[in-house]
Amino acid sequence: MEQVAFLLNGTQVQMTEAPTRTLLDYLRETRGLCGTKEGCNEGDCGACTVMVTDDTGTRALNACILFLPQLHGKSVRTVEGLTGPNGEPHPVQTAMVAHHGSQCGFCTPGFVVSMAVAHLNGDTDHDTTLAGNLCRCTGYAPIIRAAQAAETAPIPTWLQTPFISAQVSSGGPGDGKSPGAFRPTTLDALATLYAAQPDATLIAGATDVGLWVTKQLRDLSPVIFLNAIKEMTQISHAQSTLRIGAGVTITDLMAAIKPHHPSFAELLRRYASLQVRNAATIGGNIANGSPIGDGPPALIALGATLHLRQGSTRRDLPLDSFFLDYRKQDRLPGEFVEAITIPTHAPALRCYKISKRFDQDISAVCGCFNITTQNGTVTAARIAFGGMAGIPKRAATVEAALIGQPWTVPTITSATKAFATDFQPLTDMRASATYRLTVAQNLLTRYFHDLAGTPVNVLEVQP
Ligand SMILES: Cc1cc2nc3c(=O)[nH]c(=O)nc-3n(C[C@H](O)[C@H](O)[C@H](O)COP(=O)(O)OP(=O)(O)OC[C@H]3O[C@@H](n4cnc5c(N)ncnc54)[C@H](O)[C@@H]3O)c2cc1C
Ligand code: FES
Ligand code: FES
Repeated sequence: MEQVAFLLNGTQVQMTEAPTRTLLDYLRETRGLCGTKEGCNEGDCGACTVMVTDDTGTRALNACILFLPQLHGKSVRTVEGLTGPNGEPHPVQTAMVAHHGSQCGFCTPGFVVSMAVAHLNGDTDHDTTLAGNLCRCTGYAPIIRAAQAAETAPIPTWLQTPFISAQVSSGGPGDGKSPGAFRPTTLDALATLYAAQPDATLIAGATDVGLWVTKQLRDLSPVIFLNAIKEMTQISHAQSTLRIGAGVTITDLMAAIKPHHPSFAELLRRYASLQVRNAATIGGNIANGSPIGDGPPALIALGATLHLRQGSTRRDLPLDSFFLDYRKQDRLPGEFVEAITIPTHAPALRCYKISKRFDQDISAVCGCFNITTQNGTVTAARIAFGGMAGIPKRAATVEAALIGQPWTVPTITSATKAFATDFQPLTDMRASATYRLTVAQNLLTRYFHDLAGTPVNVLEVQP
């Protein structure tokens, strides 16, 4: 049982709870704040969206896959906390009424909280900010109209006051009084702790681990929360590389790489939803070893170096050699992902995510290409795929078929045959093996035309 304290709708709350109790359960069952809805309970629908503020800003997060210790020292606002002291509606609530943005109303609190966060942050890309909120009856046009109508309304005064209370920023889990859950604040402390307890479950953003609790009802103890380690959230620029801490969220990664690798940033825009990207970390995305994660193929195509640490021992390895077999990585007991380094310069990098839906969907195939040519001849090639094998994997035979050849359509056509040597994909609910192989082959052709300047993005291609 853990001591956790945070501000809830402006009032400090303290609790002693199991470390993997979700914020959603706490709000609904303990506090009676039932405006925050439970739809999917797995991060997919946004009905449980809450507003979370800390010293890095205000974000929308899904309460169903947030554990209470992740909120220690922060401020949480639910839909009940959006209205003013005398019940005045938030401007986005007024706009939702005026534009008929709600029918059955089940999704509405989640939409309203997402819209209020965007309003607070001055974010007017409503298609992106609302892609993680699902509505089955109203249709999105009235909701988007409401969001647009509220854009120019001033931020309500009751949301302008500082949220964080100094009292709740200290103490909490990991303060030495809680044997089952830890919340180290430095990398050194984490290294010591994890080396001593290699069976502990590391929890970063909990966008994977959360589902182990809500769907698989697993007991994870002991657990080590990573989100209080500031050093893990740093991105540093050195000469021609970026070193990205394992705790950097997908949202922050997207912003940092956009000037260097716009295609990778575009891929990350299609990674889950804003609420999930605000929580999920790149370290978690790598460490979980999923064959369909979106980060690893792009990072492998970039030639990323992984930095691992076990106690005081550190080692570096190319990311592609980290993935050994399905869900099996080259990671020792008590060893964790500290950071990853990528080059800042890779103008030929292109990343393509193929999924049934444009937004908020897992890749059926994710293909990332980084091919260098000199005087019309291929001199280097890094091609990596997700969804084509039990691990994120390079297309080594395709790369070999391209290197030294002229960068022409006949070379591409000939090289596509090599995909069948590199990959024997599975048929599952996302795609058949034949579809996956065909798509991978076609993506090489798409890449060729993309580099030649032909619009290939579904958002650019017009009928
Ligand atoms: C609704 C939804 C949609 C999603 N869509 C996508 C998508 O489109 N693309 C995609 O790639 N993924 C997607 N995911 C999966 C998930 O968001 C990612 O895998 C995410 O990056 C995991 O990061 P996390 O910080 O949440 O990790 P956690 O859930 O906290 O941890 C995941 C695993 O990594 C381990 N771990 C975490 N940090 C470290 C570390 N530093 N060192 C060692 N081990 C560590 C944990 O112990 C655990 O085993 C989705 C998830 C949800 C719920
Ligand atoms: S209940 Fe669906 S995202 Fe949380
Ligand atoms: S109004 Fe019914 S689900 Fe959105």
